[in-house]
Amino acid sequence: MLRPKAEKLALDGRPDLKDPDLYLRGDHHEIFRTLRVREPVYWNPEADSTGFWAITRYDDIEAISKSPKLFSSAKQMGGHRIFNENEIEENQTDATMISMDPPEHASYRRMITPGFVPKRISNMEERIRARVTRLLDNLPKTGEAEFVSAVAAALPIEVLAELFGVPESDGPKLFEWSNATVGEDDPELRVSDEYMRKCVGEMAGYAAGLWQKRLENPGEDLISMLVHSKIDGEPLTFPAYIGTFILLVVAGNETTRNSISGGLLALSEHPEERRKLLDDPSLIPSAVQEIVRWVSPVLHMRRTATEDTEIRGQKIARGDKVVMWYASANRDEAQWEDPYRFDVTRFRSAAAPTQLGFGAGQHFCLGSRLAELQLTVLFEELLKRFPDIHVSGSVRRLRSNFISGIKEMPVRYSV
Ligand code: HEM
Repeated sequence: MLRPKAEKLALDGRPDLKDPDLYLRGDHHEIFRTLRVREPVYWNPEADSTGFWAITRYDDIEAISKSPKLFSSAKQMGGHRIFNENEIEENQTDATMISMDPPEHASYRRMITPGFVPKRISNMEERIRARVTRLLDNLPKTGEAEFVSAVAAALPIEVLAELFGVPESDGPKLFEWSNATVGEDDPELRVSDEYMRKCVGEMAGYAAGLWQKRLENPGEDLISMLVHSKIDGEPLTFPAYIGTFILLVVAGNETTRNSISGGLLALSEHPEERRKLLDDPSLIPSAVQEIVRWVSPVLHMRRTATEDTEIRGQKIARGDKVVMWYASANRDEAQWEDPYRFDVTRFRSAAAPTQLGFGAGQHFCLGSRLAELQLTVLFEELLKRFPDIHVSGSVRRLRSNFISGIKEMPVRYSV
């Protein structure tokens, strides 16, 4: 069991939470634990920008997420990433809803919500199960596979293709663009700035083609819904459509992929927890919440203070960046019993706190039900079919301070 040794880490070393190598090495939980105890509102300088406040306690993160007037997501204030979105050259389109504040945000969210209502999502269950079954059928009969490409990445991409009403054969393109978008600190994924510009251009061109097709021939898919939707009585502008398209490609993809791979890794490292799921599959929905808590696929989101204020007595100036580390909130000992224990039964109790992996407040993940459904069906079918599937070699992680990601993970299973 992972038990960070808080006492060993002196903060004189001033950890840099922006350093993507921290997450590659897996040092972050130890650092977060120390910060929660000693400096829960921690000033993290930046070599190339203003620096930011790192928030590591559950209660603070929940409160900030629910105070959009004071803590803004707006692109013109810098947006939802640590870097300032409004200063990025490839990003000079309209803001998307994840980088908006109320009331504008609510208008956009209302427009897209019908695509994610519970009934629509639960109607996808049978098709998701059929996709999972096919992916598992296709696993090599040798009893060895690379799990990320074979299953964890493939499923969310296929589901996204279904949402968009595009052929599954477009999946590899969506996969490449999404990797490049979040892979800015991983040289394998963001080969160069030029490559990134090429990806953004291709993605926008692809989205524009779909816009035209759905204008002429609307269907039941999410793209048709966007193309024909109205924001406060006005049609969605083309740049706003492109931004929403890109948001969905990235948000619906990396996160679910890394929950699937991170979930299987956790079950491999905790065989007694896997045993519980094999004995009682009705625990899988609880296990899914525990997996998202454990993995925290989105490590953080950022806000910007709109006024001088205080958090836990620490003065925060107007314009300061405030970064909420979900990965830390989800291990906060003030909130969780035995937070470093991976426990698939944890969320069976109605008294369990809500895990913050999907965020909180008005930006609470719009795709959470869809992600939960994919994870539930995947682990139901996977454990039924390959009860002994386990990680069989070293895992290659994504170099990122934003997404807790796995690029490659070898597995072995009895056939
Ligand atoms: C395990 C999987 C997922 C995780 C951990 C996750 C995490 C998050 C988080 C933390 C936020 C909050 C952003 C903020 O407060 O600034 C968010 C927002 C969002 N997510 Fe997810 N997400 C997941 C899956 C999905 C899926 C499958 C989709 C869609 C296909 C999706 C679409 C969105 C959208 C559109 C937003 C923006 C909502 C808004 O601004 O109102 N997510 N997600």
